[in-house]
Amino acid sequence: MKNNTILNLTLSLIVISFNVHASSKVHLDHADTDISNTASLQNGAKLFMNYCSGCHAISFMRYNRIGEDLGLSDELVAENLMFAGNKPGETITTAMPEDAAAKWFGGTPPDLSLVARSKGTDWIYTYLRSFYEDESRIFGVNNSVLVNASMPDVLWSLKQGQSEADFDQNVRDITNFLDYVGEPAKLIRLKLGKWVLLFLGILFILAYLLKKEYWKDVKYGIWRPRD
Ligand code: HEC
Repeated sequence: MKNNTILNLTLSLIVISFNVHASSKVHLDHADTDISNTASLQNGAKLFMNYCSGCHAISFMRYNRIGEDLGLSDELVAENLMFAGNKPGETITTAMPEDAAAKWFGGTPPDLSLVARSKGTDWIYTYLRSFYEDESRIFGVNNSVLVNASMPDVLWSLKQGQSEADFDQNVRDITNFLDYVGEPAKLIRLKLGKWVLLFLGILFILAYLLKKEYWKDVKYGIWRPRD
């Protein structure tokens, strides 16, 4: 019985380590995103709404929250990010009907609210730049990061009109936006973090002075009352 448990444990560890190796096989480019770069987030939001939201929802996010966090007025949000008929307080869903999507793509395009948390920014950045021609696939493209992906190369038209560096920057902005969507509070958390560390620094000085005060009467490890 005990032997069996050890065997099972060893086998599962081997399987786990194989999986880790399998997933690290694809080389991922460094996304180099910066969540404090508001211009990048604004551009990413705009590109996302234009190129991705037709298929993907980010249903944990609301239009007006983006406006608040990225410093966009209600008019700018309505003009650049919303489609007619949406309300600012609504979550960002997709117009794609689920059953049609299943028929067209063999599955519903996943909600991307948390994709930056599950796959990481490097993965998204590399994935969006890794489509290549493959006539055997239904959309004529395949992807080297997500093999046999059923997503078409939606940024193809964007890529045509610009230099590689500009295109990479645009993909970086979309990735940055998805990183923000995955954890909107990160904007506040990172700013607040510096103050928390400063507070802890000051508290350390006070705590140290207090410790010195308490221990100054203790000599050679034996407590004696002051003379
Ligand atoms: C025409 C519909 C369509 C559009 C537009 C589209 N996608 Fe997709 N996307 C899909 C489908 C379908 C999948 C599922 C692929 C699969 O698993 O084979 C997918 C998968 C993904 C994934 C992988 C998610 C995961 O967890 O596996 C990411 C990331 C992604 N898309 C990002 C984007 C971004 C960013 C855009 C905009 C630039 C975009 N997509 C535009 C259809 C679309």
